[in-house]
Amino acid sequence: MTDFAYNFPFVPASQSLVANSGAANLPRSFIREAHPGDVAQLTELLASSFYHRTGWLYWAYPVIKLGIQEDLRQRIKGEKSNYLCLTALTSTSEEAKIPVSPRMAGTVEVSQRQAWPWQGMSPHYAYVSNLAVAPGFRRRGIAGRLLATCETLVLGWQLRDLYLHVMADNLPARRLYQKAGFHLCRSEETAATWLGLQPRRLLLHKPLT
Ligand SMILES: CC(C)(COP(=O)(O)OP(=O)(O)OC[C@H]1O[C@@H](n2cnc3c(N)ncnc32)[C@H](O)[C@@H]1OP(=O)(O)O)[C@@H](O)C(=O)NCCC(=O)NCCS
Repeated sequence: MTDFAYNFPFVPASQSLVANSGAANLPRSFIREAHPGDVAQLTELLASSFYHRTGWLYWAYPVIKLGIQEDLRQRIKGEKSNYLCLTALTSTSEEAKIPVSPRMAGTVEVSQRQAWPWQGMSPHYAYVSNLAVAPGFRRRGIAGRLLATCETLVLGWQLRDLYLHVMADNLPARRLYQKAGFHLCRSEETAATWLGLQPRRLLLHKPLT
């Protein structure tokens, strides 16, 4: 299991709902399942992490955000047993003493999938996507904690293989995944790669024990 120093325990949905009602205390920093009320903050976090508001993207940004928001809303509202969106929340020690919502520091999604025999993957596996940590919270081990939580939940699904994609030019993410124990499964190229418009996509794999 990935070992990261920063402590973000996973709080089950039932416990975080009780805490929201003021009936229980939560740790200062924790990871919980996202709920529909998180969609606006999650959208902001994902859009700002994956798209830069420069050039033509400056004009397309609101449309991109809308697309992210609707997709997220559908996925989270769906409450499927084979899908989870997690969010890492944190507050300073002062903020934790007063009843304000903790700030959203990071997010990740994990789902159960099936592979075709010719894909060269395990027939039943878990897939991680949309991992993002807000700029002000980076390099504190939050992405590592989110991945470690995914691993625990995936083992609970009785799955032993975790896959994800990363763009070849995303060096911070590649270092993170390497540190978390992922290794290269295959490098994927498309017409856009051949034309030099897009970097290669790397499929990474981590067998869980
Ligand atoms: C990639 C990302 C999720 C990392 O989040 P994070 O919380 O800062 O990562 P962690 O603090 O858990 O980092 C764990 C390890 O990953 C590596 N790492 C993370 N960010 C790095 C960076 N900018 N440069 C080099 N290594 C980095 C380091 O080895 C780090 O360990 P260390 O801090 O002890 O050196 C974050 O930078 C991000 O949201 N980026 C934009 C969205 C994105 O690219 N997501 C991944 C899509 S595949």
